[in-house]
Amino acid sequence: MKIAVIGTGYVGLVSGTCFAAWGHEVICVDKNAQKIDGLKRGVVPIYEPGLDELVERNSAAGRLRFTCNLTEAVKGALVVFIAVGTPPRAGQGDADLSFVYMAARELAPLLEDDAIVVVKSTVPVGTGDIVQKIIGSVRKTGAFSVASNPEFLREGVAIRDFLEPDRVVIGVEDERARKVLMELYGVALQAHKTPIVVTQRRTSELIKYAANAFLATKITFINELADLCEQVGSNVSELALGMGLDKRIGTSFLNAGPGYGGSCFPKDTMALLRTAQDYGVSVRIVEETVTANEARKRRMALKVMDALEGDVEGRTIAVLGLTFKPDTDDMRDAPSVPLIETLQRFGAIIRAHDPVGMENAGRILSGVEFFDDPYECAHNADAAVVITEWDSIRKLDLARLKKTMRQAVLIDLRNAFEQGVAEEIGFRVSAIGRST
Ligand code: UGA
Repeated sequence: MKIAVIGTGYVGLVSGTCFAAWGHEVICVDKNAQKIDGLKRGVVPIYEPGLDELVERNSAAGRLRFTCNLTEAVKGALVVFIAVGTPPRAGQGDADLSFVYMAARELAPLLEDDAIVVVKSTVPVGTGDIVQKIIGSVRKTGAFSVASNPEFLREGVAIRDFLEPDRVVIGVEDERARKVLMELYGVALQAHKTPIVVTQRRTSELIKYAANAFLATKITFINELADLCEQVGSNVSELALGMGLDKRIGTSFLNAGPGYGGSCFPKDTMALLRTAQDYGVSVRIVEETVTANEARKRRMALKVMDALEGDVEGRTIAVLGLTFKPDTDDMRDAPSVPLIETLQRFGAIIRAHDPVGMENAGRILSGVEFFDDPYECAHNADAAVVITEWDSIRKLDLARLKKTMRQAVLIDLRNAFEQGVAEEIGFRVSAIGRST
């Protein structure tokens, strides 16, 4: 199948590359010439384990190409994916759809008559209808279709999430689009017996927001229970296991931490609330989730202050892990940012380490000294704070870390270490959802 993918961001690049890996002829198009030049040379602009190799292999096989020329990309393509960004609108909280609409306007005159335009970007309910109108206003004839096919991949494990998804969601308004998309996914995912949910376009659009809002709520639930555990002397990890083994609940996404971040949950929960507001519906549980998560991110600084007897003025704090989660260089809405900024306001001196996120962190944070080496980062520190549970951070030699620090205080906001082990080494430990 000849496929065009518009937009080489996270979703576009991973999807395009994986479609090529399934044997399709894929061309990815982006307006950013520097990005496309790099991709043509095999330079992948995002940090995603395994993606470089997959891009290289499929490009070498001639199945995956990159261009800035939309005409070249769309010509002859049976399926055209729109995978451009939908960033949050400044001050509005909802998604900015201008890139989606611009893509629709620009591709409309170039489409093959029977092409299927599939919106993969995360878009609010009803966007597919507008895309249909935009294209329809240019192409009075032809049997084009507009479908929805949201993407559920997670940064850091994006390739596996794409190639072996829990499910695929397809929103179509006509039989032809259904058939083509079923063929595209059905054949490749046959071996995994992946369920494919075929529904109306509007339902498909809403599923994406509902899934992200539910996961954000699940995390917020366990975070609040972690606070309760701290007060009553319980252990949140064991609580999560005891709850989660009930199949109706499930054990995943029950890791208590400093609050969720990233480019998706904060944006998508806000966008869902905006849609609900537009239609006069209140989704109170999501409203509470958003409020509780924001408050939690800010409150984490107090936890650090508490561990240092309420005063961080002039104290040196080593922050271990900066990105919103491991295996990504993404700093968007990372809990590390409000935490560091608050501690700085209270006079703390911040030293920080992250395996890959320091370049991006340096663009957001000021007055922070960055270290490639985590032990050097902790040198003469009064406390070490774990914010991101990178494998390399989990594997740190705590005895060595303690030796280099001025005071052995560990604030483990991801429960990355066994509290008992750290205490045996001599650390005073403040963890999440455990009594101290
Ligand atoms: C999320 C969804 O998981 C994907 O399914 C979805 O496709 C994606 O958004 C998107 O909309 O594009 P992502 O933002 O990459 O993926 O990251 P997650 O792994 O979901 O983590 C989000 C945040 O929740 C992180 O800050 C993470 O640390 C936090 N989290 C996650 C917890 O605090 N506890 C958990 O148990 C799980």
